[in-house]
Amino acid sequence: MIPIPSPPGIPLFGNLFQLPRLAITQHFTQLAKQYPGVFQVHFAYVAATFVTDPALVAELADAKRFRKLVGPPLSTLRTVAGDGLFTAHSEEPNWDKAHKLLVPAFGQRAMRGYFDTMLPVVEQLIANWNASGDQDIDVSDAMVRLTFETIGQCGFDFEFGLFKSQPMHPFITTMTRALTESMERLTRLRLPNPLWVAKEWQLRRDSRYLHQVVDQVIAKRRTEPEALARSKRDMLGIMLQAVDEKGEGLSDQNLRFQVLTFLIAGHETTSGLLAFALYYLVKQPSVLAKVRAEVDSVLPLGCTPTYENMAQLPVLEQLIKETLRLWPTVPIYSVAPFADTEIGPGYPVRKNQPINVLLTGLHRNPAVWNEPDSFDLERFSVANEALVPSSAYKPFGSGERACIGRQFAYTETKLALALILQRFDLQDPYDYQLNVKETLSLKPAAFVVRVSNRKKLN
Ligand code: HEM
Repeated sequence: MIPIPSPPGIPLFGNLFQLPRLAITQHFTQLAKQYPGVFQVHFAYVAATFVTDPALVAELADAKRFRKLVGPPLSTLRTVAGDGLFTAHSEEPNWDKAHKLLVPAFGQRAMRGYFDTMLPVVEQLIANWNASGDQDIDVSDAMVRLTFETIGQCGFDFEFGLFKSQPMHPFITTMTRALTESMERLTRLRLPNPLWVAKEWQLRRDSRYLHQVVDQVIAKRRTEPEALARSKRDMLGIMLQAVDEKGEGLSDQNLRFQVLTFLIAGHETTSGLLAFALYYLVKQPSVLAKVRAEVDSVLPLGCTPTYENMAQLPVLEQLIKETLRLWPTVPIYSVAPFADTEIGPGYPVRKNQPINVLLTGLHRNPAVWNEPDSFDLERFSVANEALVPSSAYKPFGSGERACIGRQFAYTETKLALALILQRFDLQDPYDYQLNVKETLSLKPAAFVVRVSNRKKLN
């Protein structure tokens, strides 16, 4: 047995007090540089292993030895999302059932339908930017509005009206508070105290409110047959009609958890990806020029994108992949062994002990990636991508618990970036220095871009 390297801690609390509350993933990413491949961190009495070596990541994909671990912060998030796909334990019957029933909701046919819903949402964003002439945009705020409105409409035909009103919809502020709480609990000592109790009550209140809103939407669909019959093929429509081989569908409670799961998973992750991609575009003029040249040739000014166009933008896809390499917006996924075992050359791991695949470390592992911290569009050219070991790049997770919404995210991101580039010039008037904010996912904080209408310049 070989001990797993670990930064020195203090008795009883281990490394707990070294963990920066608001930048924990970035702290682990630094540790990955000091302890290449694998290291262990002690959260008081819990030892968590972090893996950034592709060979170990491949070993952890063995479903006979390891299963997805729903530990903190996902276990806290269960208060909101219950046994929805993301937060379900693999052995819960609803995971298997929902996984099978929801595959059609993310297939090609469904995606075409969602595209027709996505397009007017992106057009609203574009119209807002157009209407005000040159203007400074808070990128993360704008991208959250875009992705939330998109998943609200594609998910359950619900308009949040985020382009019409400046204050965020209370549903979103409530959900964001619940996500932040799930993350902050990681570094909060679990001792009974008034702060802990107040936060617990807040989380429960927030969950109740989120559940009520979604339950009302589901009840409306169920009780108004015309609404169900009329319903476009949104995710809720597909879920309501799906039945398994026994003729059983999902319960109302599970439907509620799935809707909330899609709202959470569908907005946080993709808005961060869009914001990071815009960051690399404004910071790298040569990248911007290359991606824009492609957009201009496939979608010249005045041309409305089609679903088919999305497959004709390989350079834009390279941008998205390289962005997700450097900033995988879901930065960690976790597994645990079914029994005490050893990984790699003999590192011991105990039954149910968390093993975290640290994507920000894996994707910057110098043994795989040349100059890993620098942005290089060419890493994902067709020829170069074929050389990347599959276990070295996992922005959408691994195995049967991998992301079901990957195509949705790609389609939405490509469409939004293509239309933004088709219509606007982008500038970086304040010389933004990257400052990454961590909630459950990662995003650039306080990033402002100046957009000016290209039509005016021509
Ligand atoms: C850039 C965008 C996205 C990224 C980087 C991303 C990343 C991930 C990752 C890493 C996982 C695995 C988590 C784990 O093993 O614990 C995952 C799972 C999942 N994602 Fe995504 N995701 C994205 C977009 C989406 C979208 C748009 C949706 C839905 C509309 C979605 C729905 C889900 C669901 C439901 C799961 C759980 C699947 C299961 O366990 O059965 N994701 N995602």
